[in-house]
Amino acid sequence: MRSAQRFMVVLIVTSFTGPALAGGEPTKDVTEPLEAGKRIYRQYCASCHGIEGDGQPNWERQNALGELPAPPHNPEGHTWKHSDAMLYRIIAEGWHDPWNKTERLTMPAFGDVLSPQQIQLVVNYLKTLWTPEQRRHQQEESQDAPFP
Ligand code: HEC
Repeated sequence: MRSAQRFMVVLIVTSFTGPALAGGEPTKDVTEPLEAGKRIYRQYCASCHGIEGDGQPNWERQNALGELPAPPHNPEGHTWKHSDAMLYRIIAEGWHDPWNKTERLTMPAFGDVLSPQQIQLVVNYLKTLWTPEQRRHQQEESQDAPFP
């Protein structure tokens, strides 16, 4: 962008958000953390849980190996039933259903791949896939079990 154009954009933006900017850093777009969470999700999680979070087919039944496939993170799944602390743990340490016929962590551990902050970002992105009631329920669950 040429500098004259950029100046015009700044002028227009500040004329709308003038008081919020006065004397401070330009305010960050509030959607940015969710965008960051979405990028993490698409890079690390979507291959199993689906680009829209709709999980693998027949996720409620064990497959031929006796393992549960990746569940959805949308309102059809049960991700929303876990507190922030539990979701953090599942993602950092990995997880497998105790009734799986194999011992391996079908949900891989991301504790060495993602920073604590990145895990929170991706969980906060998952929350956007839930209904308002599910979000409220999960928020209550998390009051006594917040992110570590
Ligand atoms: C290699 C495939 C794979 C990848 C990649 C993967 N998952 Fe999973 N995930 C699974 C499977 C399979 C399960 C179900 C484990 C079980 O219950 O047996 C699961 C379960 C979960 C659960 C528990 C859901 C519930 O309803 O109990 C959460 C939360 C989760 N994954 C989040 C993530 C996030 C966030 C990422 C990316 C950082 C991710 N997963 C990447 C396969 C994967």
